[in-house]
Amino acid sequence: MHSNQDTAAQHDAIREAIGGLIACPIDVGKQGIRVLDSGTGDGTDITDIKFPKSSHASSISFRIQSITSAWPGEWTKSFDLVHQRLVLGACGSFPFPEAVKNLAALVKPGGWIELIEPDQTCGIGDGQAMRDFITLVTCVFEHMGGNVRYAYNIKRWLQEAGMIDIEERSIPLFLGTSIPDQDLARRTARSTADAMLPLLKYLEMKGCPPPLQQNALDTLSERLHAELLSQGGFYPLRVIYGRAPPDL
Ligand SMILES: C[S@@+](CC[C@H](N)C(=O)[O-])C[C@H]1O[C@@H](n2cnc3c(N)ncnc32)[C@H](O)[C@@H]1O
Repeated sequence: MHSNQDTAAQHDAIREAIGGLIACPIDVGKQGIRVLDSGTGDGTDITDIKFPKSSHASSISFRIQSITSAWPGEWTKSFDLVHQRLVLGACGSFPFPEAVKNLAALVKPGGWIELIEPDQTCGIGDGQAMRDFITLVTCVFEHMGGNVRYAYNIKRWLQEAGMIDIEERSIPLFLGTSIPDQDLARRTARSTADAMLPLLKYLEMKGCPPPLQQNALDTLSERLHAELLSQGGFYPLRVIYGRAPPDL
């Protein structure tokens, strides 16, 4: 549900908001740590985490894998950290709790799983274009038979998958001029506006009843860009993490 054109803008804004890239209390400085970043995009998320130098580059490998398909059997209980950010919405009609359970099964006893997903709400001070964005994304999820507020269920799905010590936090993600750094403000305005295009394409391809006047849809990307540059926006995310019970 996001643009792939500048995922680095979103990545940089999230890092600003969390004050790092992961929130769970794993020791990323530990030698030999094994990490899965599911749906990594270009790999920026994972390569930016401050692992020990020796664990970088040469030991990073990429693999094509859908969260809706079975994971390699030899990966079961093999990762110290399973991380997935802004990917779960891609489940489509695949059951979300099953995707979460399949990820949880990859965590080593005592290891961590961390998921970050949007609340799909905007701020009280946000403008019409941000509100139209939330209306559009809600319509697309409902048309796919899903619940746009799936992030609120992740804690329960992790519990059902047997994870313990589960914590849920809100990440106050700001967009456009709500971010003090002018370059990041400009980049997040552009990437968020561009993220409207696949949503609009979905409506058109599936022939969904339009959730807004046609003119409001046709101008949404442009209006959102201008609004984020002039007044900014607020798009909170939810981080949920927990760990697999240690082997006793
Ligand atoms: C919004 S991007 C997030 C990328 C990255 N995790 C980040 O936070 O910057 C969504 C990512 O999900 C990937 N994706 C889409 N459908 C997927 C699926 N069924 N299984 C795994 N990844 C998927 C896309 O290729 C893309 O890299």
